[in-house]
Amino acid sequence: MGAEQQVRADFVELYGAEPEGVWAAPGRVNLIGEHTDYNDGFVMPFALPHTATAAVSRRTDGRLRLHSADIEDGVAELRLDDLTPESDRAWTAYPAGVVWALREAGHPVTGADIHLTSTVPSGAGLSSSAALEVVVALALNDLFELGLARWQLARLCQRTENVYVGAPTGIMDQTASACCEAGHALFLDTRDLSQQQIPFDLAAEGMRLLVVDTQVKHAHSDGEYGKRRAGCEKGAALLGVDALRDIAYADLDAALERLGDEEEVRCLVRHVVTEDQRVERVVSLLKSGETRAIGPVLVEGHASLRDDFRISCPELDLVVDTALAGGALGARMTGGGFGGSAIVLVEAADVDTITKAVEEAFAAAGFTAPRVFEAVPSAGARRLA
Ligand code: GLA
Repeated sequence: MGAEQQVRADFVELYGAEPEGVWAAPGRVNLIGEHTDYNDGFVMPFALPHTATAAVSRRTDGRLRLHSADIEDGVAELRLDDLTPESDRAWTAYPAGVVWALREAGHPVTGADIHLTSTVPSGAGLSSSAALEVVVALALNDLFELGLARWQLARLCQRTENVYVGAPTGIMDQTASACCEAGHALFLDTRDLSQQQIPFDLAAEGMRLLVVDTQVKHAHSDGEYGKRRAGCEKGAALLGVDALRDIAYADLDAALERLGDEEEVRCLVRHVVTEDQRVERVVSLLKSGETRAIGPVLVEGHASLRDDFRISCPELDLVVDTALAGGALGARMTGGGFGGSAIVLVEAADVDTITKAVEEAFAAAGFTAPRVFEAVPSAGARRLA
């Protein structure tokens, strides 16, 4: 049975009727542009084949019934009037938070039966939570005929994450899940959400992109992500701009000088301004067909996240160092950091040797075995049935 049929069959068993529809929304990896989204900057994620899938029917009695196939005792029944931000720290916060955000924005959602399952690894920096939010938002948008555009759904899902769940994240993950297209990376300007789909077909050029999940769990609601964000906002304030996006790369040295002895803020500013420039470099390299040349830019990005933003960890650094020593074209951590996953750009012929080298290096260091898989740029959120 395919995933869609399974979710449908489970829904029937749980709720005693066919669902009105089935939807899917993917996780993502970010090719380049890390910690730039809450600075109004550039990002370049692409969607994974791994998705959250939801079978959903409307209700009219103000109740929300939730079920997750992936969680033991994953059953909940909530009243829409009782949904309050930060009252819920469990898996239910994502679907319930989306319902809350839609209703708070004035959309007439009157209740739902939802059955969820996901193949996006959780805590791996691959946006499992954004996938859950977006799949629920898209389903409710369709069923209640709310007429919201993809970018509007992404904004509501970010609000879910920021206000209901209480994690101060940017807009990248939700937009990636909602807007990515198969065979493309999404070049997104997070200031106005303008987008360009950039063709990204590594297989056609004899390359592969590996995702290495270090199995080191991360969480954004804990303090470190928020501290980096606050430091960036302090930098923008000290420099008299709305967001660090407004510091041009050519003006970086002057900006750093103006920050004087604010050493911590200087490092954060340097990362963000150079990272925005790296996104622009990757976009122009891909547009001119120089795909292999993005490798060194990815490596620079990793060094900046490790040394200036200070959000890497020994496991992520080991992936990058081992992959590069083994002949990878480029490698870097991806996502929020403090664990999670790295990406490795390799020649197709080197997949096995580099995978083995990373696995052996982890074993030698006494780290938990990593999970390595190939990432193919896949479709964004969609209705399956
Ligand atoms: C997490 C957040 C995103 C973004 C990245 C870092 O994935 O959810 O908004 O800030 O970290 O680039």
